[in-house]
Amino acid sequence: MKKRIRFIFGILLLVAATMALYTVLTIQNNVKQMNTEASQTSPYFPEYPAVNTQGKNPALVKRGEYLTKAGDCITCHTNTPEKGAVFAGALPMHTPFGTIYSPNITPDKETGIGNWTEEQFITAMTKGISPQGHYYYPAFPYYYFSKLTHDDLIAIKAYLDSIPAVHEESRKNEMMKPFNLRFLQLGWREMFFRSQELQGYKPDAKQTTSWNRGAYLVEGLGHCAMCHSPSYHILTQSLPLGAPIKKYNLTGAPIQGYLASNISQSHLASISEAEIVKVFTEDRLIGGGKVKGPMLEVNHDSLRYLSHDDLYAIATYLKSVKSVTPSKSSVAPGATIYEGYCASCHALGIGGAPKFGDPAAWDAILKAKVDGVYANVIHGMGGMPAKGTCLSCSDADIKQAVDYMLSAARGETGTQ
Ligand code: HEC
Ligand code: HEC
Ligand code: HEC
Repeated sequence: MKKRIRFIFGILLLVAATMALYTVLTIQNNVKQMNTEASQTSPYFPEYPAVNTQGKNPALVKRGEYLTKAGDCITCHTNTPEKGAVFAGALPMHTPFGTIYSPNITPDKETGIGNWTEEQFITAMTKGISPQGHYYYPAFPYYYFSKLTHDDLIAIKAYLDSIPAVHEESRKNEMMKPFNLRFLQLGWREMFFRSQELQGYKPDAKQTTSWNRGAYLVEGLGHCAMCHSPSYHILTQSLPLGAPIKKYNLTGAPIQGYLASNISQSHLASISEAEIVKVFTEDRLIGGGKVKGPMLEVNHDSLRYLSHDDLYAIATYLKSVKSVTPSKSSVAPGATIYEGYCASCHALGIGGAPKFGDPAAWDAILKAKVDGVYANVIHGMGGMPAKGTCLSCSDADIKQAVDYMLSAARGETGTQ
């Protein structure tokens, strides 16, 4: 019986997914917005507010503050583009299926979560279910927070109860049909969350305390895989379903016009813990170069506040993560960029874009001088936006993506 229910919800999700294909143009627009927004907004890092611990346990509030910082709650729950009040929500988050606004999580009793009980808070954070019984979207990382201990959650709640209350109504989500129907999240939950739920974090007795602390921070509070793991997707990586593929844990994925690097053992084995910690404390990428985009926010809003021991623990854990590296065609840089930025138009041949792998559509392009083709893509032509919206891509990155598309047109690469 259970199996059957699971199957039915799976089908419901797939129906929803199929309907999404008919609205691909809307999606494409949203993807474009997702891909460009990070590069347009100049970095602004909200400040943590002063707390009022009157009538509360100050030590618990302090611990909660540290954990809230490790969870990077402030980045999503503050409307930074409009310099909104901290933790008052209203940050628009563009998903391929529409826009979600983060809610107000200040202790205001009417518009925030001031009336919530500890139990309601724990259910929201670990099960993704609201006090009214609604299912949250996976844009709220409850998938990861389900690993948190109840003690830690109680501390986070104590902290959130002691920050300034802001009276600000949460904004209404603008999700496309049928994704506006929250019950459809049941399909998602059945397919991706069920096996994760209720597991909590299980320490590995064979590992050190530091390793276990690192694993708890990375896989739980820090929700690093939300950006750093390839997600299950519909059709192309530019339509992610917000569910990490566990076997590819932390092997890298495109996000908001950037590539969140592979941070598993296959990339970090020979890098020292100290050098990894410098990524967080000095904004320095492993190969040199400055950390940019969403990771800069993670560093400044979250990781910068953590103790050296915790950052070292994170580095220790990352170096040990053994994941399957995704199949060759999707790790080739050209393929990754194609999947992340170009497929939204080229997979189906939308708006006159030559369709991926279709020899007829590419015939004339294959006969043209390749330098001219590169230039057309880098500078844009007709309906083809400059760099195909990948503003963080270098010219060399774009050439690799073009090469990948050209070889597919010649029938040299398996289409997928
Ligand atoms: C990646 C962005 C993101 C991060 C990080 C994040 N949240 Fe959220 N959170 C959301 C979104 C989006 C929603 C609304 C989901 C929906 O409407 O289905 C939400 C909802 C919530 C809710 C439910 C509020 C309500 O009114 O129903 C609570 C409580 C919450 N978050 C607390 C936290 C805490 C505590 C942290 C840090 C430990 C955190 N969130 C980190 C995006 C985020
Ligand atoms: C909101 C998305 C996001 C989240 C969450 C996130 N990262 Fe990142 N991370 C990125 C992006 C994007 C880059 C690449 C930055 C660049 O190219 O400038 C990156 C880069 C890195 C790097 C540098 C790798 C290198 O080769 O130089 C490390 C290490 C890293 N992240 C670790 C983490 C850890 C640990 C967490 C969780 C605590 C985390 N990240 C959470 C998006 C994210
Ligand atoms: C918003 C939709 C869109 C995106 C995203 C997009 N393209 Fe295009 N692309 C087009 C369209 C439309 C054309 C046809 C332009 C024309 O012929 O005027 C095109 C044409 C091309 C061509 C042929 C150029 C020529 O000389 O005729 C190449 C190669 C190409 N795109 C590569 C890419 C790459 C690489 C990316 C990702 C980095 C990308 N595209 C992203 C819409 C898109």
